[in-house]
Amino acid sequence: MTIKKGIILAAGKATRLHPTSLAFGKQLMAVYDKPLIYYPLAALMAAGIRDVLIIVTPRDRKLFETLLGDGSQYGISIAYEEQHKQDGIAGAFIIGENFVGGDTVCLILGDNFFHGPEFDAILNKAARSVNGATIFCHHVNEPSAYGVAVLDANSRVTRLVEKPKEFISNWCVTGLYFYDNKAVETAKTLTPSARNELEITDLNIKYLEQGKLNAITFDGSYRWFDLGTHQNIHDAAEFIRDHELSTGQKIGCIDEAAYRAGFIDAAQVRGNADKIGNPAYANYLRKLADAAPR
Ligand code: G1P
Repeated sequence: MTIKKGIILAAGKATRLHPTSLAFGKQLMAVYDKPLIYYPLAALMAAGIRDVLIIVTPRDRKLFETLLGDGSQYGISIAYEEQHKQDGIAGAFIIGENFVGGDTVCLILGDNFFHGPEFDAILNKAARSVNGATIFCHHVNEPSAYGVAVLDANSRVTRLVEKPKEFISNWCVTGLYFYDNKAVETAKTLTPSARNELEITDLNIKYLEQGKLNAITFDGSYRWFDLGTHQNIHDAAEFIRDHELSTGQKIGCIDEAAYRAGFIDAAQVRGNADKIGNPAYANYLRKLADAAPR
């Protein structure tokens, strides 16, 4: 089954970023040359997803609408739902129940950044063959702050633990997940954890117990950041800056992602550039449009 719908969860309190995040959410902050939410949104587009729900706080709704509108300028549809109470990542499926409807769904945390060899192609391929759930694991040295997966020699998941107190594996479960349509019903059966949240790891454990949890692994040649701390935002910005300056290619450019996915044409890319004006981002789009076959 092909993934049809994408949910970006962008409603956290971001307390680790206070006071920077007191007035608006972290997904609206700049990471080098674009707002943070561009990165997960570009990943959804790379997966071929055109139907997007962004879960936001009531405080930030207008700002997101100003930034991204209804998505039509990227050839996609963007809807917004508000989260009024922090009830955990798996709560996204309860808020998004009507949006998901009878479809398969991708969930991406609004603060997750991915980059690496053939990343877009791997995602696109995985999105076309969903059977149960798929998680994406990244090799990290310090896994204790994350959901962690134990994998066997065939990269099958044998165990999942949220923020393990003792070391069990270096495979961090990143904030990107593909699910069949059962995710919504299964999320409703979860009970809140000790931190009073519906844990995404508990949802994934349900799939694991049914033998329906697949894992895709990203080794050290990939970069993954959970952009929840100033340190990580700084490190990611430095990585993006170095990459963009050395290759001339942008990371997380949603206009380009939409164009490469075939959602918009060169004339629309040019139109988007004109709305932005003359900063480097817009000039990059003009170059992209000019290079298109006429
Ligand atoms: C959440 C998930 C965790 C995952 C992480 C990735 O952690 O609970 O399983 O590894 O996102 O960013 P949290 O941000 O809630 O601490």
